[in-house]
Order: sequence, then C-alpha cells, then structure tokens
Amino acid sequence: MTRPLTLTGAVTAVTGGGSGIGRAAALAFARRGARVAVSDLDLDRALAVAAEITAAGGEAFATRVDVTREADFAAWRDAALDRFGQVDLIMNNVGVLALGAPESLPDEAWQRVLDLNLMSIARSNRVFLPLLLAQGHGHVVNTASASGLLAYGFDRLPYVASKHAVVGLSEALALYLGPRGVGVTCLCPSGVITNILEQVTVYGEVASSPRAPDHPVVPADTVGDLAADAVTQGRFLVLTAPAIHDELAARAHDLEAYLQARISEQTP
Ligand SMILES: NC(=O)c1ccc[n+]([C@@H]2O[C@H](COP(=O)([O-])OP(=O)(O)OC[C@H]3O[C@@H](n4cnc5c(N)ncnc54)[C@H](O)[C@@H]3O)[C@@H](O)[C@H]2O)c1
Repeated sequence: MTRPLTLTGAVTAVTGGGSGIGRAAALAFARRGARVAVSDLDLDRALAVAAEITAAGGEAFATRVDVTREADFAAWRDAALDRFGQVDLIMNNVGVLALGAPESLPDEAWQRVLDLNLMSIARSNRVFLPLLLAQGHGHVVNTASASGLLAYGFDRLPYVASKHAVVGLSEALALYLGPRGVGVTCLCPSGVITNILEQVTVYGEVASSPRAPDHPVVPADTVGDLAADAVTQGRFLVLTAPAIHDELAARAHDLEAYLQARISEQTP
C-alpha cells in the first residue's frame, strides 16, 4: 500500500498526455473530478486532450513539454500553479523504444531511451517533489512496463534496463515519500494499444521477438482507469496481466530454473 489521493478537486499533471496511456490517464483523472495539466512534446495532441476534458465539463490546459528539458518541466509547473494554485499529482509517463541486437545497439540508442524513460523522472523529481513535500500530500505516478519486472525482450535491452530502473526508483521513492504523506504508483502494463510504434527507432536486423508472453493486449482506456483507481486506493503496482504475479513468484522461488526454462524456449 501507498498513500491514497482523492482525485476530486485534485490538480494532476501528465507528461506524454497527448496520446495512449497518458491521454487515457488524463481523461480518467478528469472523469473522477480532477483538474488536469496536460503536456506533450506534440502540443496539438495535448491541446486536443485538454479540449476533450473541457468539452466534457472538466478543467484542463495544455502545454508543450519536452521531458528531456528540465526548464520545460519548471515552466509547466509554474503554469499549473498560476492556473490552478497547486499540483497534487505528477504522472511521469513518456517512454520510447529502440530495437536492435544487443551487440549492435549504439550509444545513441541507449542514451535516447535512458534520457526519455529514466532521466526524465530525475528532472521531474527535482521540479515537482519540493512542491509535494512542502504541502505534505500528493502522488507520483510513474509509467514503467511489464518489461520493468520481467526481462522479456533481448531485442530492446535499453528499454528493459530503463523500465527496471523506473520500477526500482519508484519503490525507493515510495519508501521516502510515504512517511511524508505522498503516495507512489508504478504502472507495469503488458501490451497496450497506443501510438508507441511511432517512437520506435530500429538499428540493423532485429531478430524476431524472443518470447511473446501470452498476456492480453488491452486498450489504453483500461490502463487509464486502472491508474486512477490505484491512485485513489493507494496501490503501488498496476498490472494488466495478473499472470505476471505467478511468473514473478516462480522467478523469485528459483531464478536459475526460471531462466533455464526460458532459455530452453528459445530457438537460436
Ligand atoms: N504501449 C504499450 O504496449 C506499453 C506497454 C507498457 C508500457 N508502456 C509505456 O507507456 C508509456 C506511454 O506510452 P504509450 O504506449 O502511451 O505511447 P504513445 O506513443 O501513444 O504516447 C507517448 C506520448 O509521449 C510523447 N512524447 C514523446 N517524446 C516526448 C518528449 N521528449 N517529451 C514529451 N512527450 C514526448 C509523444 O508525443 C506521445 O504523445 C511509455 O512509458 C511506454 O514505455 C507502453
């Protein structure tokens, strides 16, 4: 359990809120009565989501924020404070993929993925945590992935590494923030129908996916609702495939046997 947050009247801020999981979460927060600061690198998408929220009777505004730029985070925080007077929830949601064989991925692939998926949260922490700590309540939502719990893809090593890092930092952050009145939720969805393929960069020949886990692929709206429920119920972990619980238990019970079984499934 982590600290719950009542969304009615809360001010929420979502990165990558113009599409997919971020958009769905922004809409779900608004349906529960939250005001929403929607941000995205693509301002038109953020504007469209803010317009959807206001058309439904909610309150929202859109800002162009590039999560690789700390100054963008700071300007966005200030805009949210000007507009709504407070920020109660920050959702760090942007993530991208680079695909390629482990021996051929260049530094630029690693750096892009780690910068967007991991360092963006370090920037967000510096900008938003002082606010949440000063007010003694609030919530942080970090979008990781099932790939942050189980190392499915050897064709996407930087993604797996970045998402494991996001799970780890979220857990440590929950320990730090919990006693200070601030909750943390970590989203670890399996496949979700979004526009994520637009952000994929491919390096060289990509081997076929090592193992397609038999997990359901869900609409983004499902994840948005699960995220909003987790915030209001004070839950840390959000999964879209309950089977992951069993796989994590098997892995924890005997990592050697678990890994050996998975290696045996592969055909080189
Ligand atoms: N789609 C899936 O199957 C899936 C599964 C598990 C986890 N996730 C994670 O969900 C998160 C959201 O991805 P999605 O699937 O909704 O993808 P998406 O592409 O639909 O949405 C991502 C949004 O991020 C924005 N963005 C890209 N670069 C940015 C930057 N530098 N600054 C600000 N915004 C930027 C894009 O414009 C886009 O609107 C990611 O962290 C992803 O890793 C996705």
